Amino acid sequence: MTLKFSKIIGHRGAAAYAPENTLEGIHTAADMGVEWVEFDVKLTKDQVPILFHDDTLERTTNGGDRPVAECTLDEIRALEAGSWFADSFAGIKIPTLEEALEVVIGHGLGLNLEIKPCPGREKETAEAALDILSQIWDDHDRLLISSFSHVSMETALDMAGDWHRGFLLPEEWPENWRELAEYLDVSTFNVNGNKVVREQIDELLDLEKPILAYTINDPDRARILQGWGVDGFFTDAPDVLTDAILKVH
Ligand code: G3P
Ligand code: MG
Repeated sequence: MTLKFSKIIGHRGAAAYAPENTLEGIHTAADMGVEWVEFDVKLTKDQVPILFHDDTLERTTNGGDRPVAECTLDEIRALEAGSWFADSFAGIKIPTLEEALEVVIGHGLGLNLEIKPCPGREKETAEAALDILSQIWDDHDRLLISSFSHVSMETALDMAGDWHRGFLLPEEWPENWRELAEYLDVSTFNVNGNKVVREQIDELLDLEKPILAYTINDPDRARILQGWGVDGFFTDAPDVLTDAILKVH
């Protein structure tokens, strides 16, 4: 099974142009010609996987500072998740993972599903997300599971060892990153492209797996990273990055 990722991956959909982690964001990315999207998945109180980034509601909804982990799906559904971004998106809702997968599949996109558990829910979030995926998703050459949580990644390894996993490296790499990557049997390294230095990329190049950089919106930075050997880019602005990296070839 060979991973067939694209060089440009729409971040949280296409987060510069539509509210992040929404169906509208996925539609927007597809309409722009993007072939892969990334989104973040966490659990409601009643264990339903939804698309959401933060642990609390206030940045991207009208729900105040409540923790997502304390809200049922019904409470999540009552929230409004668009007008913080632009009036034209007022009224849109937080989608379930199941709804989002239908849209991704409908557009024929590849997917990086990032498991983004609320604290203490690392295992159950991975289990619930993979359970839904296993019922809906067929094309495992175009699916990449990733997480900053090593527990979530280990759960993915245990539940679906033959699916592709991406090793998400934060700005500060864990000391044992090589051992972890080997144990988790990862297919890609997903690095913070705004913080990573060339020596780190060189270390990854030795391992001969694709390197993906998040979150790159600056064309100059994309060209530098591409010159170092980075293979793909998570970006909020897929059109800007597409122009940037095409000029290299
Ligand atoms: O998966 C790449 C990137 O999305 C990781 O960071 O915080 O944007 O989810 P974040
Ligand atoms: Mg993410």
